[in-house]
Amino acid sequence: MRLDKFICKSTEYSLLEASGLIEERRVRVNGLVVTKASSQAHINNIVTLDNEPLTPRPFRYFLLNKPADTVCSNVDEVFPSVLNLLNAERLSELHMVGRLDADTTGLLLVTDDGHWSFNLTSPEKKCEKVYKVMLSRPISPDVAKLFREGILLQGESTPTLPAKLKIIDPYNALLTLTEGRFHQVKRMFFATGNRVKALHRQRIGNLELDVDIGHWRSLTLEEVGDLSL
Ligand code: URA
Repeated sequence: MRLDKFICKSTEYSLLEASGLIEERRVRVNGLVVTKASSQAHINNIVTLDNEPLTPRPFRYFLLNKPADTVCSNVDEVFPSVLNLLNAERLSELHMVGRLDADTTGLLLVTDDGHWSFNLTSPEKKCEKVYKVMLSRPISPDVAKLFREGILLQGESTPTLPAKLKIIDPYNALLTLTEGRFHQVKRMFFATGNRVKALHRQRIGNLELDVDIGHWRSLTLEEVGDLSL
């Protein structure tokens, strides 16, 4: 990670303050003074501040059941950030792994481990995300085939990756995606002449939503590792 970030994660200094400490030549990596805040510091490097060794706090991983009318950004003018539900320290260091719309509910992952979230959201990873969808019109039976083959969404140049649609009843279905384009579920149904009335994410990879709406828990190390595979 960047040296300034390494300092923030090991102390109570802000990013700006960390960068000042580096400029003041008070930070060494493996015994050598480093003056660029953007230099990389590996977890195995010995980083010192005023000759005192620094140890970054462990990364944090949360699973949260997002309520409607909350947003997946740190600040918003209309709705509160979903982060307000986490009574955790240093909220500003956390980010959401992929976003859900303000009106979407369900499984959301939150972390301060940028590499982990980047890996999890990369389309090559093909991590399954399962959504429960309620539609405003009956789902036509040929939609499952369209989604399986991939459809071209408005304004895009590549079709969606094969998606699995399990129709529960005429107005309700489970949709499994392995990518996360902007408003993807809503746009896919819109392309079939339908409209999503309610959307709920119930699974990511092997991780099922197992906390009540508005509640959260930390992931176990095993769950973190499983999602990294
Ligand atoms: N697709 C959407 O359209 N909205 C979400 O919140 C998630 C996936």
